[in-house]
Amino acid sequence: QIAAAKEAIENYAVTDMNAVEAFRIHFLGSKGELKNLFGELKNVPNEEKKEVGQLLNALRLQAEEKWIVSKDNLENTTATDSDVDVTRTPEPLALGARHPLSIVRSEILAIFERIGYSVSEGPEIEDDWHNFSALNFPPEHPARDMQDTFFIEKGVREMALRTHTSSVQVRVMESSTPPIRTISPGRVYRNEAISARAHCFFHQVEGLYIDKNVSFADLKQTLDYFAKSLFGDKAKIRLRPSYFPFTEPSAEVDVSCTICNSKGCNVCKYTGWLEILGCGMVDPNVLEASGIDSETYTGFAFGMGIERIAQLKFRVNDLRLYSENDVRFLKQFKGVN
Ligand code: PHE
Repeated sequence: QIAAAKEAIENYAVTDMNAVEAFRIHFLGSKGELKNLFGELKNVPNEEKKEVGQLLNALRLQAEEKWIVSKDNLENTTATDSDVDVTRTPEPLALGARHPLSIVRSEILAIFERIGYSVSEGPEIEDDWHNFSALNFPPEHPARDMQDTFFIEKGVREMALRTHTSSVQVRVMESSTPPIRTISPGRVYRNEAISARAHCFFHQVEGLYIDKNVSFADLKQTLDYFAKSLFGDKAKIRLRPSYFPFTEPSAEVDVSCTICNSKGCNVCKYTGWLEILGCGMVDPNVLEASGIDSETYTGFAFGMGIERIAQLKFRVNDLRLYSENDVRFLKQFKGVN
């Protein structure tokens, strides 16, 4: 009888919780098989009682162990076995958004690529020649001062973080022959205190066009096309005389404010115009410095800050938001391309 019970315990299939409970009732319950066997102990002859008792105790231990072990196993695996509905729609994957500056940068590049400009890039750590000298900066020009420029080594003015991507255009002029049509996007650095309206780095797109007979009218037409492509057909531009060492004549360009309405505007300060870029005809000294014959060729150049344009497009009022990587800010650009 004991041997038969032992075999029954071993062979009992405990594949789910119901079977485990049935096992417990069958062998260990108050009316269970082991209880019966223990009850029959009184019929066993005295001299065999000790041995049979030990066998029964071992049998009970075996049954208890099988019960506990199979219960534990099933409890730890049920979540992956029976409770998971594999047909359920999964939680949506969290997708990122493009950075607003990347969105605007690609838009600007696409507008110029459509009219034959190539994209050129250059180093952020630049030498004095490409950032300043070749661009006709006089030695004592204030932009070379410690105030504006991050020099790489204290007291050494040879290497610095570029202050504009005009440096890339010098490199393009040095290494190619006209006609040249190129735009240079990139990060630039200026030694300024960080606030809502200024930062120690920002992003630019600068453009350069050099060929025979390039005129100021070409420049104006190109910028008009650019403003209308970026801000819509109603956008107008206005040029104001300005000064840059590397262009002559030079101008600053305003675009008509598209955000203004009857309630006013906190972007253009109610003037209706917003400055978005600097431009001019490339100074003959600059062409000559890069090995281009200024008797044969003329050209124009322009440069804009991507942050400023993004500010206009997205009405962002604090420059610092662009580099803080706050997800609450960044995820607002989901779906904008
Ligand atoms: N390099 C100028 C700047 O960083 C922008 C500019 C480019 C102006 C080309 C005129 C012509 O401010």
